[in-house]
Amino acid sequence: MSLALVTGATSGIGLAFARELARRGDDLVLVARDVDRLGTLADELRAAGRTIHVVPADLATRDGVAAATDAIRERRIDLLVNNAGSSIGKFFGDTDVAAEDAQLDLMVKAPMDLMAAALEVMRPRGSGRILNVASIAAFTPRGTYSAHKAWIVNLSQWMNIQYAREGVVTTVLCPGFVRTEFHQRMGVDPSDVPGWMWTSAETQVRGALADLEKGKPISIPTVRYKVLGTVARYAPASLVAAVAKKGRKIAG
Ligand SMILES: NC(=O)c1ccc[n+]([C@@H]2O[C@H](COP(=O)([O-])OP(=O)(O)OC[C@H]3O[C@@H](n4cnc5c(N)ncnc54)[C@H](OP(=O)(O)O)[C@@H]3O)[C@@H](O)[C@H]2O)c1
Repeated sequence: MSLALVTGATSGIGLAFARELARRGDDLVLVARDVDRLGTLADELRAAGRTIHVVPADLATRDGVAAATDAIRERRIDLLVNNAGSSIGKFFGDTDVAAEDAQLDLMVKAPMDLMAAALEVMRPRGSGRILNVASIAAFTPRGTYSAHKAWIVNLSQWMNIQYAREGVVTTVLCPGFVRTEFHQRMGVDPSDVPGWMWTSAETQVRGALADLEKGKPISIPTVRYKVLGTVARYAPASLVAAVAKKGRKIAG
């Protein structure tokens, strides 16, 4: 049995991680903003026999990040799942810079601070696992969102090389389109995305945990996205950017 901290556990991929890890016997620290949803999930997982701690936190704020890093240090977690995230439904240049600052705090600063706290706990112990949720967008030029995801892919790859020999394994999950609340929250209409490009949160979670188990630095769970990810890395950037615009129509 181990203790996992999952950020963004109230919806989508994070919710699927929380349920799957609980099913496998892990106890959990659940982090997100929505207190009611956190409480409902905690009750569900406690009823299944797990010990659940809840940390309501806005990870785009200093206090929210401090609450999560305190939980990592105090509870000496075994697995960190850096999953919480969102995107803005406009391209950089049309966005408000304050909103971009908040995105940078949520997508880059928060996972960095949580990883630093996790390494403090895991390296002296000689064991631990970190699973970061990026996106296949990390391999495409697509504004600040893809830049944030490229940052975490790069850092995760290095952490795997640097710390796996000390017993701390880092894997970064790069999902394609996943049916969650993500696009609705962003205010975009993803109806131009063909059906075959959608995957489920459960598929992503099972694939990521299997790859983490094997110590792989990058996890791309389905064959179609393994192919798309490879093409994205080698095709001309302007072509990749044109395809990557899919799913970004403003809803309304
Ligand atoms: N869906 C996709 O197509 C897709 C594709 C590639 C990668 N991803 C990545 O997958 C991750 C999970 O997204 P999802 O698709 O599962 O979206 P989702 O259904 O909207 O879930 C996002 C989760 O993040 C939490 N969250 C958002 N802002 C937060 C904040 N400021 N502080 C704390 N928690 C916050 C939300 O909880 P609260 O609202 O309760 O705070 C929610 O639990 C993200 O990193 C996203 O970039 C998604």
